[in-house]
Amino acid sequence: MKFGYFDDANREYVITTPRTPYPWINYLGTQGFFSLISNTAGGYSFYKDARLRRITRYRYNNVPIDMGGRYFYINDNGIIWNPGWSPVKTELDEYECRHGMGYTKITGKKNGIKAQVTFFVPQDFDGEVQQVVLTNEGSFENTFSLFSFAEWCLWDAQDDSNNFQRNFSTGRVEVDGSVLYHKTEYRDRRNHFAFYSVNDTIDGYDTDRDSFIGLYNGFNNPEAVLADKATNSFADGWAPIASHFKKITLKPGESKTLVFVLGYVEMPVDQKFEADGKTINKVKAKAMIEKYDTPEKFEAGMKELKAYWDKLLGIFTVTTPDDKVDRMVNIWNQYQCMVTFNLSRSASYFESGIGRGMGFRDSNQDVLGFVHQIPDRAKERIIDIASTQFPDGGCYHQYSPLTKKGNADIGGDFSDDPLWLILSVSAYIKETGDWSILDVMTPYDNDMSVAQPMLEHLKVSFYRIVNNLGPHGLPLAMRADWNDCINLSCFSDTPGESFQTYTNPKFAAEGGYSKIAESVMVAALFTYAGPNYVEILKHLGKDDEAAKAQEEIDKMKKNIMESAWDGDWFFREYDANGEKMGSKECEEGQIFIEPQGFAIMSDVGKDQGTDLKTLAAIDERLNTKFGLVLNNPAYTKYYIQYGEISTYPGGYKENAGIFTHNNAWIICAAAYAGQGDQAFKYYSEIAPAFTEETSDIHKTEPYVYGQMIGGKDAGADIGQTGKNFGQGKNSWLTGTAAWNMVAISQYILGVQPDFDGLKVDPSIPHDGDGFTATRKFRGATYNITIKNPNHVCKGVASMEVDGAKVDGCIIPYTEGKTEYNVVVTLG
Ligand code: GLC
Ligand code: GLC
Repeated sequence: MKFGYFDDANREYVITTPRTPYPWINYLGTQGFFSLISNTAGGYSFYKDARLRRITRYRYNNVPIDMGGRYFYINDNGIIWNPGWSPVKTELDEYECRHGMGYTKITGKKNGIKAQVTFFVPQDFDGEVQQVVLTNEGSFENTFSLFSFAEWCLWDAQDDSNNFQRNFSTGRVEVDGSVLYHKTEYRDRRNHFAFYSVNDTIDGYDTDRDSFIGLYNGFNNPEAVLADKATNSFADGWAPIASHFKKITLKPGESKTLVFVLGYVEMPVDQKFEADGKTINKVKAKAMIEKYDTPEKFEAGMKELKAYWDKLLGIFTVTTPDDKVDRMVNIWNQYQCMVTFNLSRSASYFESGIGRGMGFRDSNQDVLGFVHQIPDRAKERIIDIASTQFPDGGCYHQYSPLTKKGNADIGGDFSDDPLWLILSVSAYIKETGDWSILDVMTPYDNDMSVAQPMLEHLKVSFYRIVNNLGPHGLPLAMRADWNDCINLSCFSDTPGESFQTYTNPKFAAEGGYSKIAESVMVAALFTYAGPNYVEILKHLGKDDEAAKAQEEIDKMKKNIMESAWDGDWFFREYDANGEKMGSKECEEGQIFIEPQGFAIMSDVGKDQGTDLKTLAAIDERLNTKFGLVLNNPAYTKYYIQYGEISTYPGGYKENAGIFTHNNAWIICAAAYAGQGDQAFKYYSEIAPAFTEETSDIHKTEPYVYGQMIGGKDAGADIGQTGKNFGQGKNSWLTGTAAWNMVAISQYILGVQPDFDGLKVDPSIPHDGDGFTATRKFRGATYNITIKNPNHVCKGVASMEVDGAKVDGCIIPYTEGKTEYNVVVTLG
């Protein structure tokens, strides 16, 4: 069942009922000011840091769901409704929500009054602008009331939700005409405030929640709205809010447009106040309000936003036989990659914005998805990340986006972390041809006095693995590898201990983790990422070092085949007891997804047919109609030696859930191995546009990936097999976005930036006739046509560039040339 449809021409998803199976959200903002907005206008805003600069309040995990937002209430002679249906939930005559690129437009209609509200965060602007267009589509003149509403958060979202003994006494506001100011803590230690304005006179206001809503009422029936009159309340402590009240009279056919600004302002300390030393200096706020105080200025801002997205999405576009592929590649997958660039894993409807900072591995992988769109910012990001590395190649697992410093509470020793840096730096060079990133002096642990060129960071990353091998010559698993929930050194039996950071006393003397437990996944990732380092060295003429590194890669491949090949697939780990995990010999969890793709893509044991054998096993044991499960069979009990993975009921999260992130690795591997049909099958099982038809099962947004989909084992142990199979969770902020962008664009469609230029080597379903792609790359536009007359999956039979035949599948790069017309024939 669907709850809307794609409007590709406008790059929008159009939601046609407010009762979606879960709130379906969008993100506004790309620089400092961000908002989350659901299809019923729920959500919140923050400045840069979702925890420390939370501007409006949101109630996670609330009943009913999705409470807290920016709401407009209409009281039409006793009939009270919201354009977005919630929170009053009066049945509307018409409802529509259009989530677009950086804006959301919600339209509601009731008894002849139409209200269309458009929300967006303009470029270079620290605020959310909201345009409300009210139209009388009825046949009588009508006078009705409009109330706006926003509830302020007292800045630190964590403190706001637990320190009530203090917070109920700190709220402060100021009212100046139609502008309602939130100046909590501004008198003392904060140099920032927020405001909510409207470009018209008002008939009243409220700034105190209890006066507006009433202590025993809710968002669905605020007393002031019921009474059809603002109380002009002035908050002092308790819960400050901002609500404008305006009476509006419209003749039949007449419209009224209002523009609201929800803004954030930072002031230099010596200019915070007016001469009286306590009134807010409003100079900056007034300039912001003026910037968007007419519908014309609003439209101009929207136009600028559209131009921004036109540019970003114009870098890579395709026309394939499947419009679902086109809308993923050309619009939504790229859009989601940018959202992960902006938000990392901080704030979504599943991430509360107060938990995680930037992850070392997460952020490096995100780079792979957006580097072509914003290479300069990708470079900055890579340098920020690398600056939290240690001289021995280890890294802080997370760092704070505000301070850019590593987070000592989580610490390091996640075995996979360093390898992702090799991949992100390589992706940056492949995209831009800018080798100078290798010379950038980059600190260790943010200490500039021990800075080294980025190349050195790659070296310590590479040797971090080589220098930390276990008994089988495979990398030590440490606290965890990519799978945060396989914790082989925890042996935790006490509730509340963090599986990622708890150190079992039995390993304390060994430095915190077992020196026996080994990760086959990291071994395979090493053989996949490592060759990039080798190529970089060769390019720099460092042939000896390159040869030395290559030897380590070859050795690792040998070790994998000797000690980690299970006959039909690669197994997952040696645990701290030296036992195999993810092997046929195991009772449960016999096969895992993570090592397989990287091993296939680095040709480990290819001469023995490991690639096709492994792909066959994956298809048989892990594939379902909703994607590939992470492991099989699911764990049905707690294995103290494995850690968090076996705490999840089977079918969820890392215990046999469909973890869409690592599905992409198999899509890439199948494509690499020439199995274009298989690659596309897995791609279409999880790509959001393809799951749209089953939105009732999938629940989360059909335009973006989620981290996880309920696996085939969900509920099996309690007699509910199938009930939650296919149900999506944790949408938006996931490495799935980047990796599936890589899978479809570089592996399936095969348009792959390489060190020496753009490579074209598709691996597509055999029944396709081909496709076209346009790629802006290193200052030139590549118009690419792929022909598939013989209906093969893979294999470039010939390539012509501007009519001339070319050997191989890399388009030769000519300095200064701005357009390439490329025809590739498969066969
Ligand atoms: C989450 C984390 C990621 C981890 C994955 C598997 O998505 O953000 O870092 O690799 O889970 O545990
Ligand atoms: C939990 C989640 C996992 C995530 C990790 C991040 O373990 O299950 O997916 O990566 O937290 O800390």
